[in-house]
Amino acid sequence: MITFSTINEVTEYLNQQKAAGKSIGFVPTMGALHKGHLELMQRAKKENDLLVVSIFVNPVQFNNADDLKKYPRTPDEDNRKLERVHCDVLFAPDAGEMYPEKVTKQYDFGQLDKVMEGAFRPGHFNGVAIVVKKLFDIISPDRAYFGEKDFQQLAIIKKLVAMEKIPVDIVPCPIVREPDGLAMSSRNRLLTAEERKIAPFIYKTLKEAKLRRNHICANPLRQMIINIFEGNKQFRLEYFDIVNDETLQPINGWNNKVGTVACVAVWLGNVRLIDNIRII
Ligand code: PAJ
Repeated sequence: MITFSTINEVTEYLNQQKAAGKSIGFVPTMGALHKGHLELMQRAKKENDLLVVSIFVNPVQFNNADDLKKYPRTPDEDNRKLERVHCDVLFAPDAGEMYPEKVTKQYDFGQLDKVMEGAFRPGHFNGVAIVVKKLFDIISPDRAYFGEKDFQQLAIIKKLVAMEKIPVDIVPCPIVREPDGLAMSSRNRLLTAEERKIAPFIYKTLKEAKLRRNHICANPLRQMIINIFEGNKQFRLEYFDIVNDETLQPINGWNNKVGTVACVAVWLGNVRLIDNIRII
């Protein structure tokens, strides 16, 4: 694996590779790598000549300074994991390299970023879009791999690519879970042992929603699941919603022709966790 920390060096190297006819599969990350990240990488490695990974804890997507400070950073462990999946190129810039000047760009994603994560983390998706657009410009990948764990992020990236006419295939990848159902996340390592033990309640409740969908209409089901989350005092529910998988707007009734996903964000102690499950 070759590691680059400057834009000039990585673009020069990748331009040579592209001139030699190599295809590029790209997995952008913020590090603290886990099996969820590694599955994206293994798939990218299989489907392309070169696997390029970026690790950059992107300050402009954090709407909370404390969250940015606390975000786990495990560079040595990450390097070992990247070697194991035979990563070809790691791009790990610092903030000065990515943002030599103050960023001011404002994207308009219509209703997509007004709901769920967008409603509770103002500016978050604008920051994600800024960094992903910049990374796409630097890496020029043929394919880029994103996890369905961050379902709304995936929808925003697809929209960004369409709006900016970026010539890249966005490849969605399924959520990777711990054996007890907890969706893998870099933030899981911030949980105490006690919190980690009860965290699978989130996925258990999402599965309950999926199970009940044949028996209850969408609106009462939404309320029932909200009640279950709010009834568990160890968690603090931020939102639970059942939404159209393209528009991300709440659905009011079942329609087998409309892709439907249930999404949740909850606080467990000081850690904010998100998860989702496909209902239709
Ligand atoms: P990060 O949270 O590091 O996630 C990097 C990629 O891994 C994202 O596409 C995310 O959806 C995927 N991922 C994380 N956990 C997963 C899981 N359990 N199963 C499947 N995929 C999973 O998402 C970001 O970083 C940033 O916002 C980024 C896109 C890099 C922009 O800064």
